[in-house]
Amino acid sequence: MITFEKVRFSYGERHVLKDASFSIGAGERVAILGGSGEGKTTILRLIMGLLRPDSGRLSIDGEDITQMSEAELRRVRMKFSIVFQEGALFDSLNVKENVAFCLREYTSMSEEEIEEKVKELLTQVGVGEALELMPEELSGGMHRRVAIARSLAAFEPKMFLYDEPTTGLDPVNADNICNLIVELSRSGRGFIIVTHKVIDALKVAARFMFLKNGEVLFDGGREQLIRTTVPEIRTFIRELEFKEEGKICLS
Ligand SMILES: Nc1ncnc2c1ncn2[C@@H]1O[C@H](COP(=O)(O)OP(=O)(O)OP(=O)(O)O)[C@@H](O)[C@H]1O
Ligand SMILES: [Mg+2]
Repeated sequence: MITFEKVRFSYGERHVLKDASFSIGAGERVAILGGSGEGKTTILRLIMGLLRPDSGRLSIDGEDITQMSEAELRRVRMKFSIVFQEGALFDSLNVKENVAFCLREYTSMSEEEIEEKVKELLTQVGVGEALELMPEELSGGMHRRVAIARSLAAFEPKMFLYDEPTTGLDPVNADNICNLIVELSRSGRGFIIVTHKVIDALKVAARFMFLKNGEVLFDGGREQLIRTTVPEIRTFIRELEFKEEGKICLS
């Protein structure tokens, strides 16, 4: 569904992607790993057509999106449901209104239908009781859940994109979000999770890509990731080796 062919991208003088090439199928469960500033969020923005590559080809369902007009890109964006890095709820709207916003904006549903749908979505992600709360009253975990509910509101996405969905959450909340991600993918719709938390990536994904210096340094399955001898990746996944009283916890 997603194909990057020799994609290059820079923010001015800052070269972020130098030669990114990979393909991801719609039903795949992929984690993009890498240190801070390696370009993980940039990849999601490119997929959504929020940024355009400097060169190379980026296609979604076989269509090259690099030269598309805004109107055409809107159609492509509807194939994805994205949860941005900071969750990004509207501070001045309560939970119900945050989720209803997309429904009002993108659908012609009546107020009753919107009310019904909002309740259904919030219940689906486990925060059905938070309807009237303001974003500032939510815990980090609830905030992410509401952001996920909102991203699900308007469309039936083919694929989910999550940017650091568990960062800043305590282990219990992080685990709950991982479970939710797996649950939402049961329908056969895949996802890309961007994260620097290897433990969470291992809980949800089947394929792992590691970004380094603007390229995909590693692309493989769980066992390959755990056994890799690539020094940069070993350093990165060292956190696994200190889990559970110093024992290696890989199951
Ligand atoms: N709008 C922007 N203008 C200029 N530089 C930017 C912009 N957005 C990101 N960058 C730079 O591009 C690089 C890649 O950014 P990106 O946000 O994709 O990294 P990331 O891998 O998601 O990092 P993190 O793990 O910290 O979220 C970083 O060096 C960042 O400082
Ligand atoms: Mg990022």
